[in-house]
Amino acid sequence: MAVYSAIHGLLCVVILILVSIGTSESVPLKSSLIRFSPTRKWNRGAATVLASASVSAAKYDVRYYTQILDHFSFVPESYQTFQQKYLINSDHWGGASAKSPIFVYTGNEGFIEWFTENTGFMFDIAPQFKAMLVFIEHRFYGHSMPFGSQKAAYSNSSTLGFLSSAQALADFATLITDLKKNLSAEDSPVVVFGGSYGGISSSAPILYFDNITPIGSFDDTVSEDFRSESENCFKVIKGSWNVIDEMTSTPEGLKSLRKALRICKSNSDNYIAGNLAGWLYDAYYTAAMTDYPVAANFVQPLPAYPVKQMCKAIDNPSGSTDLLSQLYGVANVYYNYTGRSSCFDIRPSDPHGEDGWQFQACTEMVMPMADDPKKSMFPNSTFDYQERVDSCESAYGVQPRRHWITTQYGGHHIKRVLKNFASNIIFFNGLRDPWSGGGVLEDINESVVAIVAKEGAHHVDFRFATKDDPQWLKDARTKEISIIKSWLQQYYMELQNSSLI
Ligand SMILES: *[C@@H]1O[C@H](CO)[C@@H](O)[C@H](O)[C@H]1NC(C)=O
Ligand SMILES: *[C@@H]1O[C@H](CO)[C@@H](O)[C@H](O)[C@H]1NC(C)=O
Ligand SMILES: *[C@@H]1O[C@H](CO)[C@@H](O)[C@H](O)[C@H]1NC(C)=O
Ligand SMILES: *[C@@H]1O[C@H](CO)[C@@H](O)[C@H](O)[C@H]1NC(C)=O
Ligand SMILES: *[C@@H]1O[C@H](CO)[C@@H](O)[C@H](O)[C@H]1NC(C)=O
Ligand SMILES: *[C@@H]1O[C@H](CO)[C@@H](O)[C@H](O)[C@H]1NC(C)=O
Repeated sequence: MAVYSAIHGLLCVVILILVSIGTSESVPLKSSLIRFSPTRKWNRGAATVLASASVSAAKYDVRYYTQILDHFSFVPESYQTFQQKYLINSDHWGGASAKSPIFVYTGNEGFIEWFTENTGFMFDIAPQFKAMLVFIEHRFYGHSMPFGSQKAAYSNSSTLGFLSSAQALADFATLITDLKKNLSAEDSPVVVFGGSYGGISSSAPILYFDNITPIGSFDDTVSEDFRSESENCFKVIKGSWNVIDEMTSTPEGLKSLRKALRICKSNSDNYIAGNLAGWLYDAYYTAAMTDYPVAANFVQPLPAYPVKQMCKAIDNPSGSTDLLSQLYGVANVYYNYTGRSSCFDIRPSDPHGEDGWQFQACTEMVMPMADDPKKSMFPNSTFDYQERVDSCESAYGVQPRRHWITTQYGGHHIKRVLKNFASNIIFFNGLRDPWSGGGVLEDINESVVAIVAKEGAHHVDFRFATKDDPQWLKDARTKEISIIKSWLQQYYMELQNSSLI
């Protein structure tokens, strides 16, 4: 954010609705029984369908901007360019002469359409603000690939090395500045929206790094979410890992698992043995993250309150009450809400284009995570930094710069720092979101505000409003709208004052 307020020298109204930096979709890379190597792709199961624009209320035009490869050096290679995708909607814009606002969504690790279609809040509020909407794709994701193609861009670290949060911030700043110039809208205030990793583009509170947030926070919150539905649910899941471990270590065990969990024949025994636990872990933590009050399709099509539904499958299984039927029930809620999976394919798929995150996890995004058996329903685990280093070396030939993010953006003593340097930020966090442990949960001053929803999940405030939204969600959005209004009012007043001089 600092990047482009400096460039513009005008008010940077920022709204950062997120949970620190973590990414919604990123798998916490842990060194536990649930092994996520940094090269592992996501498991999303067979039922995944990419949100399609045709069923979405998000309408936009697609544009490309010629973006510079490297903002931070002047060696010849840095002058190369690539096409950066952005989506735009001017239906409600009041125009440049009215100095109407521009609402910008700073893209995350995936297709920009995916985030756009899951950020209905901006579409919902555009009319009352007469705002233009702009959604900018993050470099190295979706169609915004340097070096001509994803294959070339991802070939090795000599190309992937241009993927970083700082380059992405500079891309956003450059594009916004150019767009405003093209529209002769230099005086239009810009409000930046970002969720999850996209939220760092608004202000970079990065509390999931170093030792700032307790190392068990993520999985503890997932566990607490399940426990809040029923103690039995928590206990059954906690007790399942040893059983899975034992069963996946013998051919007979694997055979029973295959049958009970209806795993596709195309999945090899070896693959199942190494990845079944991770496949279930994905389901638990993603359900917790996206424990929305209405049915939604963000990471995966899911019913309203998926955690409750998964616990129901455990507490009142439709078949027998043995563990495998319970686990099948859980998988069926998470991976088969559409009813379209004839069997479960636990092999990775990447429908949202998140692959580059693996490289980011190997360079700057080092978020230590572990499991404390006293609080977590997942197997005991510690954070093994050396293991991360080794797997990153072997995957990309790079080593993480473990403390670079906090060196660059800060994160330690966040209250003190934000008090001195920040203005116009809203931090929204839902406490059921496992990432909320790394979020800013207390007001800093009148202009840097925390909105905390006890019942909320990962940037739930960003979703399209629906008639079934609970009151707490409506209240959070109403508060956000009124804060943005007050910022804009102040901006226009200051602008008028300055033009009088
Ligand atoms: C990376 O890939 C490019 C193009 O394929 C190749 O020329 C270069 O030697 C590779 N660099 C490394 C470090 O492997
Ligand atoms: C601004 O206009 C120029 C010239 O038409 C164009 O090349 C550029 O892509 C535009 N910028 C943006 C952000 O669309
Ligand atoms: C998915 O749900 C449908 C509809 O309920 C069911 O027919 C199908 O067997 C389920 N798939 C699996 C793998 O259980
Ligand atoms: C959990 O793992 C740590 C580190 O390996 C070990 O010290 C501790 O005893 C383990 N606790 C349990 C309950 O297994
Ligand atoms: C909050 O702090 C920032 C940074 O010092 C300052 O610019 C802003 O005016 C403060 N806001 C209020 C309402 O005190
Ligand atoms: C605008 O100017 C008036 C008169 O000098 C002053 O009272 C007011 O505080 C100023 N408002 C802002 C937002 O700067």
